[in-house]
Parts: sequence; C-alpha cells; structure tokens
Amino acid sequence: MKNDIGVYGLGVMGKSIALNLCNHDYKVAVYNYENEITTDYINRNSDKTNLFPYLDLKNFVESLEKPRKIILMVTAGDTVDKVIDQLIPYLDKKDIIMDGGNSYYKDSIKRSNHLSNSEIYYLGVGISGGEMGALNGPSIMPSGDLCAYNKVDTILKAISAKADDGMPCCEYIGTHGSGHYVKMVHNGIEYGDIQIICEVYSLLRDGYKLSVCEIQKIFEQWNKGKLKSYLVEITSEILKKKDDLTENYLIDMILDVAGQKGTGKWTCIEALAISSTIPTITASVFARHISAKKSERMLASKMFNLKANELNKISTEEINEIENAMYCAKICCYAQGFDLLKDASNEFGWDLNYGQIAMIWREGCIIKAEFLNEIKKAFDIDKSLNLIMSEIFSENLLVYEKDWRNTIISLIKTGIYAPAIVSTLEYFDGYRCEVTSANLLQAQRDYFGAHTYQRTDKDGKFHTIW
Ligand code: 6PG
Repeated sequence: MKNDIGVYGLGVMGKSIALNLCNHDYKVAVYNYENEITTDYINRNSDKTNLFPYLDLKNFVESLEKPRKIILMVTAGDTVDKVIDQLIPYLDKKDIIMDGGNSYYKDSIKRSNHLSNSEIYYLGVGISGGEMGALNGPSIMPSGDLCAYNKVDTILKAISAKADDGMPCCEYIGTHGSGHYVKMVHNGIEYGDIQIICEVYSLLRDGYKLSVCEIQKIFEQWNKGKLKSYLVEITSEILKKKDDLTENYLIDMILDVAGQKGTGKWTCIEALAISSTIPTITASVFARHISAKKSERMLASKMFNLKANELNKISTEEINEIENAMYCAKICCYAQGFDLLKDASNEFGWDLNYGQIAMIWREGCIIKAEFLNEIKKAFDIDKSLNLIMSEIFSENLLVYEKDWRNTIISLIKTGIYAPAIVSTLEYFDGYRCEVTSANLLQAQRDYFGAHTYQRTDKDGKFHTIW
C-alpha cells in the first residue's frame, strides 16, 4: 500500500502538519533535507504506525500513491524553488505539489507556470495557526488549478480547523497566487490587530499605571465580550506568565524590539502597488521598524524627556470606553484588509469570496475573532461595501465614536506611541469626509506643474495661469 501524502520539510510547521495528517488516518511519508532531523522525528513519534520516514528523496516520492500529493513545508523564498527542482525529475504528470509556506504570491504564480511545463500541478496553500494550529487544525487558504485542488480537498478539509458550527476552515480561494495573497493579507491584518492590542496595553501600563495583574484581568474580561478573539485571549494568557529566572512577570523581562519575517511589509507594498488604503497595517509595520531602533530610542527619550499629562485612576467607564475604542479600531483594521482583498480581486480578476474568507478565518488562524461571523453577514448583504459602511458595523461605530476619540485623546495627551489606533480613526475620518482638502492640493499641483484640476461645477480638465 502506497502512502496517501508526503510532507517535505520537518521544521516546526512541517512536523505538526505531518502529525495532523496521521491523526486523520492518512498514511504519511515524511522527508527532510537533513536525515538526522527525519530520524529524530520518527524516534519521537514511534507510536504513529502511519508515519513513514524516507532518507532518500526518490524513495520518498515513489512511496506515494498517484497522482502524488506532496506538501512543501519549507522556508519561503529560494528554498521552495530549489526543492521543486529537486522533486521534478521524480514526479509524473498530474502529480500535485502544495506549497504550505508563507510564499510571496507572485512566486506562487511563477512556480505554477514553471511546473505546468511538466504538467505537474502547483497549489499555493496559505496556512495559518502557527505550530499548534498546524497540529490541531489550521485555517487553510488553497489556490491554483481547481481540478488539482479537488483531488486534495478532502485531505485539506480533514486536517483544517473546524468552526463552532462544524464547518471546516478551508475553502478553495481561487486561481494561482490568490491563496498566498489572501494569507499575506491575513498577516497584514494580524500585524494591525497585534499593534492595536499593544497600544492599548501601553495606555493601561504607561498612561493609567496599571500593574500587569490589573491589565491581565481587563483583557480577560474583554475576551468575554465583543472583542473575543484569539489575540485578545493569548494576551490575557501572556500577562499571567511569571518569569522562570526572576520573580517578575515574563512580559516585563521581554525586550521591546519587534521581529518580522516580511509578510506585513509585502502587504503594504502590494497595497501601494494597486492604490489600496491600509494605513493601520502600514503603521504597524513602521511601529516594528521604530521598535528595532532601541539604542536610538533610548537616547531620544533622554533628549525629549517631556512631562506628559498624567491620567487619573482608571474608572470602570474608562475601561468600557477603551474596549469600545479597541472594537472600532479592530473593525477598521479588518475593513482595510478586506478592502485590499477587494481591490486585488478586481485588479487580478480573482473574484474572491470575502464572506467565505471571513468564515475560514473563524477558527485555527491568528486573526480568529468573534466578529468574523458579523463580517460574513455584512458581505452577504452587500459584498461591494467597505465593511465600515455595512449597517452591522456602522451603527456600532457611530455609538462608540466618542469613546474611540476619547481613548485617542488620552493616548496623545500622555505621549504614548499609538500609530495603529490613531490611524484607524484617521481612516474613518478620511473615509467619511465628504469634502477633503484635496482641492488645495490640486491647486498647488496646477500652480507649480500645470497638472490641471477638475471643477465642482463643470466637467473637464482645467489649468489656470496662477
Ligand atoms: C500564521 C502566522 C504565521 C507567522 C507569522 C509571523 O498565520 O500562522 O501569521 O504566518 O507566525 O508569519 O510573522 P512575523 O514574524 O512577520 O511577525
């Protein structure tokens, strides 16, 4: 009996995906470039009778049932191309390679074209959920040739997360590149959501001078209401953790320098390329850049040691106010992400199903949030609307708008760096503004460059000798 599927790459995610497949009774072949890693992995999972190690690539491929199905779980970038080129000589027509890494969507398109010369299928499969998600059920965003996808649909759905209503968090996204694009935007939203939470934490810690324990309780409470989400939940868990080496909370021992692997940056570059507006996501990427300049920040903090306004002891009303502000900010952040998907879908002709994307983000992924159900409903009513215009959200934004502004006033008064939250309100104000100041901008462009302008009362282009 041949194996049902092969997993190439036994890094953190590959190891977990392979076990997840085993737990769903698939016969799984595993291969890693370094044999010791394969051997060690198999020794650790000796109880799995349907997990088969291969130390030779040819044997790995030949052990698979045709059409062969191989999931690549290797580092995004050149490695994926190298692995594909190693595999090609052993593969046959109609075999399927699934790239489960965070690949750049243009690389996915290039790879599927490259493989189509040999009539081998390439599916770009966005996978979210980190190590635990990969093991217990991730959110999966597959794309590429639909016939090829149909051959792996059952497997991917089996290993995916299941929402509360039992629906698998895996749906075919669209043609080549779209799955990795959607995963990229997922990560962009993730950057925004994380940064918003961090800024609120900063307001509670530095503005209201609350202890870790007090902040933890607030996040725990928030996770029971409209902010219920994976990221709010893990924040409340993180704030409970004590350091092993000192008596302190671990959070206080972690250096404030953010890492990044690049998907947030790609989201910004892609948004700029198609003139989409995602200020919260870009602000979040820039916040990571600023965080990395630790030594410069330390110098500057001495130079600009401003006397910030103190906030009074926090009241229950203020905690509710911040919760409402955070809700508005999160909605605006997700709205920007979905709007980017809409712009990209139009640009690339993908015909993305936004409601369905919201559904597969309900479980297993990092941006899992209770309000994704509402987002789905909003798109069911009108898929062309910006989410903030949907009745479901517009009513709440109007009710909470004052709280949103007040929270931002507190942040600004106290000099707390909060570019993501501030940008959400700016996005809202920019979007809902009937008459902007771009009339002056156009006048200036015409003044110095004869770039012309349009008039409010007549059609056509006009130029003035200023
Ligand atoms: C996921 C995550 C995953 C990874 C991020 C982290 O959906 O499972 O988004 O893809 O943890 O890439 O990204 P940064 O290192 O850029 O923060």
